[in-house]
Amino acid sequence: MSKRIVVLSGSGLSAESGLPTFRDSAGLWNQYDWRELASPEGWRKHPEVVLAFYNERRARAWAAQPNAAHLAIAALERRFDVVVVTQNVDGLHERAGSTRVLHVHGELAFARGSGGRQRRYRIDAAPIELGQTCEDGTQLRPDIVWFGEETLHMDEAREHVAAADKVLVVGTSLTVYPAAGLVEFARCDAEKVLNSLDMDEIPAGFQFLAGRATEVIPQLSARWLGPPS
Ligand code: APR
Repeated sequence: MSKRIVVLSGSGLSAESGLPTFRDSAGLWNQYDWRELASPEGWRKHPEVVLAFYNERRARAWAAQPNAAHLAIAALERRFDVVVVTQNVDGLHERAGSTRVLHVHGELAFARGSGGRQRRYRIDAAPIELGQTCEDGTQLRPDIVWFGEETLHMDEAREHVAAADKVLVVGTSLTVYPAAGLVEFARCDAEKVLNSLDMDEIPAGFQFLAGRATEVIPQLSARWLGPPS
């Protein structure tokens, strides 16, 4: 049976594809107030402002290309049973070829009604406009998990992490819970690796590989895959 790998990824993985992170010096939450743009309160206060913010992010994500790190993660499927658990809302993992991706914070390529996630619509790069409604008559909104809202697929993600032989954390500051807490479910005998530019605290048992994902991840993937058979 193929060895199981779980990849936990964050915005730092897509940084070299030209997409902003959140908490780095040029990060989104250092430019904007997340309360105004990524919370139910901000949505109620000024939906047009929130829609404009995500329409711009959606267009940028659609124009971006997967980088060498996304491709190296997808390549692991050649020899391993890989599940990607991502906090990223861009579709770069799938566009790189990863076939099992759990988006715990939602996806820019989908819209949903304001009344709940009963009905979601694939919109790819299309903007959402004020006045566009769901079948239930509510205003369409981005299918993104905002602060204070429930994170998605967490039970499934925990099971995958707990069963993994290798756990790779890449490009996340591990500051937003419950996603950040997934590392605690990694088996003690699993190989655990964390790549980031810098990290205040390394979770117990993780080997820290400092550096840019496009340099570190292809090397790690090649090492794990071993010589071509
Ligand atoms: N290669 C590797 N790591 C990088 C790179 C890079 N090129 N560039 C930045 N990083 C690292 C940073 O050092 C940092 O540790 O990526 C991390 C980005 O952290 P955050 O900006 O906090 O982003 P993330 O962890 O994805 O945020 C989690 O917060 O705002 C919410 O919902 C949003 O999913 C997001 C969640």
